[in-house]
Amino acid sequence: MIKDIFRKKQIGQILIESESSKNSLNKILTLRDLTFFGIAAIIGAGIFSTIGRASFNGGPAVSLLFVFTAIACVFTALSYAQFASTVPVSGSAYTYAYVSFGELFAWIIGWALILEYAVSNMVVAISWSEYFVSMLQNVFHVHFPRYLAIDHGTAKTAFEQVTNAVAAGTTSSLPSNTFELAKIYEIAPMIGDLKIIFNLPAGIITTLVTALIYIGIKESKNATNILVYIKMGVILLVIVGGVFYVKTDNWVPFAPNGMNGVMLSVASVFFAFIGFDSISTTAEECVDPQRDLPRAMIYCLVICTILYIVISLVLTGMVSYKELGVNDPLAYVFEKLEINWMAGIISVSAVIAITSALLAYQLGQPRIWMVMSRDGLLPKKFSSVHPKYKTPAFATIITGLLVGIPSLFMNMQFFIDLTSVGTFFAFILVCAGILFMDYKGLSKESKFKVPYLNGKYIIGTLFILAAVWVQYSFGFDTLLAEKPLLGVFWSAWLILSILGFKYNFSIIPVLGILTNLYLMSELGWTNWRMFLIWLAIGMVIYISYGHKNSKLNLPKL
Ligand code: ALA
Repeated sequence: MIKDIFRKKQIGQILIESESSKNSLNKILTLRDLTFFGIAAIIGAGIFSTIGRASFNGGPAVSLLFVFTAIACVFTALSYAQFASTVPVSGSAYTYAYVSFGELFAWIIGWALILEYAVSNMVVAISWSEYFVSMLQNVFHVHFPRYLAIDHGTAKTAFEQVTNAVAAGTTSSLPSNTFELAKIYEIAPMIGDLKIIFNLPAGIITTLVTALIYIGIKESKNATNILVYIKMGVILLVIVGGVFYVKTDNWVPFAPNGMNGVMLSVASVFFAFIGFDSISTTAEECVDPQRDLPRAMIYCLVICTILYIVISLVLTGMVSYKELGVNDPLAYVFEKLEINWMAGIISVSAVIAITSALLAYQLGQPRIWMVMSRDGLLPKKFSSVHPKYKTPAFATIITGLLVGIPSLFMNMQFFIDLTSVGTFFAFILVCAGILFMDYKGLSKESKFKVPYLNGKYIIGTLFILAAVWVQYSFGFDTLLAEKPLLGVFWSAWLILSILGFKYNFSIIPVLGILTNLYLMSELGWTNWRMFLIWLAIGMVIYISYGHKNSKLNLPKL
């Protein structure tokens, strides 16, 4: 069993399987389509919603967190790009792990990617619903019943908080939107003892987007391209329109809550970047995946990073960071300056932008399942391709149900945290996979290679310098007492220094591992615990199904 779980797939074997598959997908995606898919996936709920709270916590300095997170993502994107040019099939990091670390890790990555694609789409669907309802209200003056656009738990918690605060006479300490949420709970209709509260728009948009993806990649491609044009246009409008209202006084103090305030927002900022990797799931639908995937990944990441940094500076320059703790910060800043037509355009565009992010992830998840099913780790049905539409039909429907049902009933923040921790984990393994490929000499087969800089002495030297600096500035005792998970980061750095010295590790993937791990360790133990529980569930499924049914079990002919 132990030996089996580390069995690996050979790159040549994977390529032959995907070429000879009778169920081949349509190969129509070009470099521009891929870059657009990437932008569609990256820019979504993150920049339209969670940047508000991130700026509220960290102040203008949150723009630096965008820079740091972007650096971690660029290192990771280079690693993804090398894999995508070596193994251009739809499974993304899952397939890459199968080649480098073996079946168990491949399964774990595939399982973690569900967090990145399906669970993040629950956030995106909920965020879409919020903007949709406010667009109806503010632009079209249509009132949508709020109890049909929120989850039961959030409304109930707010109601209990207000009830307790009224009893204790402490209502002034509650944020104002708590009262609105409590009111929704109070007025919601009832069946028996049950309040009828659920997020109907989130469920409806998920169903519509799933239906579009079911019908075909071409239709999805055309829809994505149009949506991205609109989205980019409006983001530029916000930047160009907002820059004239920037008051540099608002940038002082730059980091009002210090480093801790900035780092509170790691999950939200990282969430805004998630998605550049999702284009690797369309490898089998690309005209020239080995040439175009690496380029598209880097292009979309660079474009989005520039937009994010500029937007975060414009927002925090237009109003005080203290006012940005809202769910619709881009529209809010213009409302605040009484430029209501602009706020209206932004509400409409947010709905459009978030729709395209939803589309990208609904497209990615079934393709990963399809590849896992081809390998026998999931039931065969997951790889069935619709005879007419040429899409992974069954897996697409399951994705629709998996995302649509929880988004009717669940709360957003829980999913943001879970998504971020799972995605960091996947990114770390992809970067580590490049080190493994180098070590095994497999990088020779890659059409695109992560630029090689020998880290033999550099990784260890940087470790010593950083460790001396930390000890001198804060002391490891204090640091680890405050943030014990940083212990994992420092231990990993030490191990990489030793292995890097021994095996001449390439610097860029090592920096990818370290930057992602650092950000991951800032997330806190609650997130890690949720992730470990998720992994444990995945392990039970692997042991009881995937391990027995893996295609690698079959005797070779
Ligand atoms: N990056 C994606 C978004 O912000 C997940 O919606």
